[in-house]
Amino acid sequence: MATIRFIREGIDVQCQPGENLRDLVIKEKLQLYGLKGILGNCGGAGQCSTCFVSVEGGNNNSLSPLTVVEEEKLKNRPENWRLACQTLVKSSSVILTKPQSPPSNIDELRESNNNKKLPR
Ligand code: FES
Repeated sequence: MATIRFIREGIDVQCQPGENLRDLVIKEKLQLYGLKGILGNCGGAGQCSTCFVSVEGGNNNSLSPLTVVEEEKLKNRPENWRLACQTLVKSSSVILTKPQSPPSNIDELRESNNNKKLPR
């Protein structure tokens, strides 16, 4: 089992390695999309660039490598951003949903996360 910590929502979710991150977020009924993605998204086909998440912790191998689609779609985005629909969980990781509109207390959330050990 792997644990994905969603720092915006303040929850840890268990999942199986190999699970798609977008599917996990939706299964847990968390909000993945901003307004643009709510109004219209590609359903996980890697075409709309609305399922951004940022990777806030875990090791370098916690998630699958960037896909070719992500390399194209994330060209001008921060290095720790991923497209959830293109990302598979490999081991425990820390994720911020909707990094394009971070919560006002994002620094607090990051600090709090840094003080909590991530289960392996
Ligand atoms: S859902 Fe469209 S790019 Fe991920």
